[in-house]
Amino acid sequence: MFSKLAPLQRFAVLSCGTHSSVASATSFKTVQGPPTSDYIFERESKCGAHNYHPLPVALERGKCIYLWDVKGRKYFDFLSSYSAVNQGHCHPKIVNALKSQGNKLTLTSRAFYNNVLGEYEEYITKLFNYHKILPMNTGMEAGETACKLAHRWGYTVKGIQKYKAKVIFAAGNFWGRTLSAISSSTDLTSYDGFGPFMPGFDVIPCNDLPALERAFQNPNVAAFMVEPIQGEAGVVPDPGYLMGVRELRTRHQDLYIADEIQSGLARTGRWLAVDHANVRPDIVLLGKALSGMLWDDGIMLSIKPGEHESTYGGNPLGCRVAIAALEVLEEENLAENTEKMGILLRNEPMKLPSDVVTAELLNIIVINETKDCDAWKVCLRLRDYGLLAKPTHGDIIRFHLCWWSRRMRFESPVKSLTRPSYRSEGSSCFQWSLGAGWRQVVL
Ligand SMILES: Cc1ncc(COP(=O)(O)O)c(C=O)c1O
Repeated sequence: MFSKLAPLQRFAVLSCGTHSSVASATSFKTVQGPPTSDYIFERESKCGAHNYHPLPVALERGKCIYLWDVKGRKYFDFLSSYSAVNQGHCHPKIVNALKSQGNKLTLTSRAFYNNVLGEYEEYITKLFNYHKILPMNTGMEAGETACKLAHRWGYTVKGIQKYKAKVIFAAGNFWGRTLSAISSSTDLTSYDGFGPFMPGFDVIPCNDLPALERAFQNPNVAAFMVEPIQGEAGVVPDPGYLMGVRELRTRHQDLYIADEIQSGLARTGRWLAVDHANVRPDIVLLGKALSGMLWDDGIMLSIKPGEHESTYGGNPLGCRVAIAALEVLEEENLAENTEKMGILLRNEPMKLPSDVVTAELLNIIVINETKDCDAWKVCLRLRDYGLLAKPTHGDIIRFHLCWWSRRMRFESPVKSLTRPSYRSEGSSCFQWSLGAGWRQVVL
């Protein structure tokens, strides 16, 4: 595998015969000069788990909405690390918060108090108008914890018979890859071959209030967990759906858990996507740019000391960065900007002589797959033109932009998508994608 690498870039590989659990770190440092893209691809392939299929581009620097690869090529970032860098790369305010807290105190564990956690908790709970926050490391952990606490709430508040609690999910949901998360998945590639699965999870069709009403008839149901917009499946709720969920939840006294991990924190032009529908869930899961869970006292206080933990959750470094990240969203009006830029993004493809359908909110393009063209090939071509995006499910490309506040910075990638000259480049996949192949744009 390493035969193609330049001799100076070969690095030492652990010998199968060694009995030590570690090798000297210096024996790995034989790389001289900056590594090439090919070297970086091959090293990851050799030494890392193959749980991702990255687009072949080796990045080394980011600023604002831009990324640079190891060759110094500049790209527009149209993925924003799946919404995790909504504020743009290396935002100076966030970097400064990281540096100054990093020099002071980074991790205390929750065995002791630190002077930043409470400040963060107070800030975020006031901002979102919930009683409590539980800081998390990942979105998956937030989903997992929500299910666990819904069980406890079901037993202690709703009076469900012990260990009979159920959580309902909408088909097409995606909340990670842990055993629990894939136990509610309807995507074969997510769960196939990984069972046995978590019991007590039921799935109903998405956007189907009568199905939810039927599910809520079961007295063992503790909660319904649903994304306001299904990022992975690309489903936008019908008008009235989220309000209907809220009303059913109130009538049946079950919990409504909103998975805002992808749609929250200004991603859709509101602080939370549920704000579009004017509904207040019982539990809000945050992730990506900031992982955690917002709840009210009645639910949160059903968990006691020692019953849930996280070594890193609530660390002062993370809390300081989280405060800065939220302040950037507020100070730079990024939710408002998201809405404006989203309209701009969607309007440009609408000018194409193609079958393009738009709705509101997240930006998802569904590619009409043929044997010669699919979303992966379109993404490769976009990369060649200096725009990074990633396919999902073979035919979908999601555009997640960093919502930096200056309009002009955003205009040019949109133009680059639709520039006529790109359409005259022979029978390329990209040309195809800009032609009749744009089957649909769902938001
Ligand atoms: C809606 C939704 N929920 C949960 C998750 C899991 O978040 P994480 O990858 O931070 O664990 C994701 C990840 O993409 C997501 O899109």
